[in-house]
Amino acid sequence: MANERQFRVKTKFIATRGVKEYRASISEWVREWDNVLEIGCEWGTTTRLIADRCKHVLGTDVSPVVIERARQKNPELDFDVLDAFNVKAAMDFGQDFSKVYIDMSGISGYRSLLDVISLLNMYATVLQPDAIVIKSGALKQFASNCVAWGQS
Ligand SMILES: C[S@@+](CC[C@H](N)C(=O)[O-])C[C@H]1O[C@@H](n2cnc3c(N)ncnc32)[C@H](O)[C@@H]1O
Repeated sequence: MANERQFRVKTKFIATRGVKEYRASISEWVREWDNVLEIGCEWGTTTRLIADRCKHVLGTDVSPVVIERARQKNPELDFDVLDAFNVKAAMDFGQDFSKVYIDMSGISGYRSLLDVISLLNMYATVLQPDAIVIKSGALKQFASNCVAWGQS
């Protein structure tokens, strides 16, 4: 059956609300073998927390100014400029990312659900990480109202 053979995303999506939950997820979701892509790293505060628990993390942000500051504050870590909506540029890093962390201004609020879902699907389809953790109150609220029929 064609439907059964269709490509299906296997990535888990973890919706967190606020930076406290976002960072608390690290101990549960990041493992020592992981290569993590972090999107919206700002000055690298969360990047450092992720780096403590995994093989490698690449912190990225759309702003070259914050990336410069992140490099100055954390010279031992890797940072690069990336606009999250340019997934081709994320592919061009040429890395196999097992986890993705996303905390972007503009999509963390309650009116951004469709943008969040399309961003998650894009990264899940192209990079195929095991999991994407995102700071999004809208997604957390939506997910808490979802029930997958037939699964206990
Ligand atoms: C709330 S801050 C991130 C804080 C950081 N995750 C932490 O834990 O310290 C949001 C960041 O999203 C970045 N951002 C906004 N739009 C973006 C985009 N299209 N692609 C990548 N980063 C973006 C901003 O430049 C900003 O640094």
